[in-house]
Parts: sequence; C-alpha cells; structure tokens
Amino acid sequence: MGMVFVNGSWLEPACATVSVFDRGFLFGDGVYEVIAAYDRHPFRLGAHLRRLNRSLEAIRLPNPMDNRQWAELIADAIAQESSTDQAVYIQVTRGVAPRDHAFPDCPPTIVVMGNPLKPPPAAWLSQGIAVVTMADIRWQRCDIKTTSLLANVLLRQAALDAGAAEAVLLQDGQLTEGAASSVLVVKNGVLHAPPPGPALLPGITAELLLALARRLELPTRLGAVGETLLRNADELWLTSTTREVLPITMLDRQPVGDGRVGPLFQHMHQAYQEARRWDAATIDALLQQPSSITLHP
Ligand code: PDD
Repeated sequence: MGMVFVNGSWLEPACATVSVFDRGFLFGDGVYEVIAAYDRHPFRLGAHLRRLNRSLEAIRLPNPMDNRQWAELIADAIAQESSTDQAVYIQVTRGVAPRDHAFPDCPPTIVVMGNPLKPPPAAWLSQGIAVVTMADIRWQRCDIKTTSLLANVLLRQAALDAGAAEAVLLQDGQLTEGAASSVLVVKNGVLHAPPPGPALLPGITAELLLALARRLELPTRLGAVGETLLRNADELWLTSTTREVLPITMLDRQPVGDGRVGPLFQHMHQAYQEARRWDAATIDALLQQPSSITLHP
C-alpha cells in the first residue's frame, strides 16, 4: 500500500490515523468510493465522482472538493503506490466532533489511498464461484455508498462461512444485489438487471456490462428479478469494480444452468477486458447510445 492521504497530509500506512471522535468511527457517518486504476489510469473516474457527489448529497454533506481537485488527489494517490493496477479508496466522513447525533459544525475528514488491485483467482474465471442467497437485512437507502456497512459485513461473512464467495440478497422475493457486488441474470438470451432505486447501489461495473451487452446485441431488461428467474437462470454474473465480472456457477449449492461457465460470460468478460483500455470519451459514447432497455417498474 502507498502513502495514505488524511486531511491534507500524506502519511505512512502505519501512521494514517483519525480521531476516535471521527463520525465515521462513531456512527459510520460517511460515504466512500472504490475506483479501479489500470496501468495507473483511473477507470470510469467521471462516473465514480458523480456517484460520490450523489452519496454526499444524500447524506447532506457538502462535497469538500470539485472534480478537478478529486482527480488530482486520486492521481497523487496512484503515484504513491507501486502497483500499476490499483483499487483507489476514497472516504469522506462528517468530521471530528464530540459525540452527538446532530450534525456538527466541523470540516469533513477526507481519506484517499491506492491499494494493489489483484486479478481474480484463475479458478474463479474458469470454474465460476458459488454464492448463497440471504434475506436482504439492510436499510432502505442502499443506493447510498455509505461506510455504514455492518449488514453487508455480516452477510458477506455468513456467505464465506457457508463456503460461498458472496451473499446474493433477496428482498420480498426479488433480487437486489450482492453484499458488495451487483448481480446480473441471463435467461433465454436476455440480460436482466434489477431496476435502479433505493434498494441497491447503482453499480458502475454493471452499467458498463449492460452497455457492452447491447453492443454485442444481447438484449437487456431493467426490471424486477424474481426469485424464480434467479433460480432458473441460464447464467448469473457478479460484477464490481474490484472483481470486474465473475461467473456464478453455484447458487445455494445448486448448479446455475448446466453448472459450467456460460458462453455469454466468456464474451462479456472479453469485452470488459477490452473496454478497460478505452478512454472516457469512448465509454461515454457507448453509454449514451440509444438503448434497447425496457424499463419495467
Ligand atoms: N463495492 N453493490 C454493493 C453493495 C457494493 O458494495 C458494490 C461495490 C457494488 C458494485 O458497484 P461498482 O460496480 O460500482 O463497484 C454493488 C465495492 C467494490 C467495495 O465495497 O469494495
């Protein structure tokens, strides 16, 4: 890990500390982003900064910096870390103040650091991963990328304890997302994704996967994904900034489709690897293409 930015100073990881009165520590009162950098270039930076701004607005915390300042800080963090592929972590909390639930009048805490981004284990790509379904016990603003992640932590650990790589969450019989990932469903040649809304984080990786799918003429549908569709999927994919796109081949110890990594996954994984090398303008142009998405409430 490289040096860590804490409120204006670059510190050695062992010295990078915040006060016990930080509201991130006391209340989980903060938001964060994880941004991939490939070959030291941040990937989908604009989308991550837009989502950061959206999360800050949602918790009524003024954004302490403009996008140009964020981009410079992120570039500095990337320069501090020795790996060329990185996961840059950004966190903003409501700052340090005597413990009181009411908003304090104090500057926010800003932390930024670059971490090595390791490719997923080869076996995950060749054989797929196992997941387990769990009840989505989180709150009603899962669209905010907040550091209040206790439910997500408990769900991920319960999945690991069950010998699975991720918990896939169901709310009232419908798929929301993974404990720290988005989930996409292929059935009869259509790529299904749950609709955006307060029940899940708008995944930046999933957004790109959906656009890449349309480019490959795989129709996409944003709409409620019921448990039956999930359990009868031909292919299931897990997406996140750090895991990119992974094939899910076991769901609750049952095979997904024929239990092997599906053919559409191979295409999409390949497409994502290519897109990693595209510049922002190329990706924005793809995302702006009129979509064949049908939105079902
Ligand atoms: N998590 N849903 C949740 C709850 C997540 O925590 C994440 C990512 C995603 C995928 O979002 P994106 O494709 O924009 O990374 C969906 C990050 C990587 C983390 O917490 O480390």
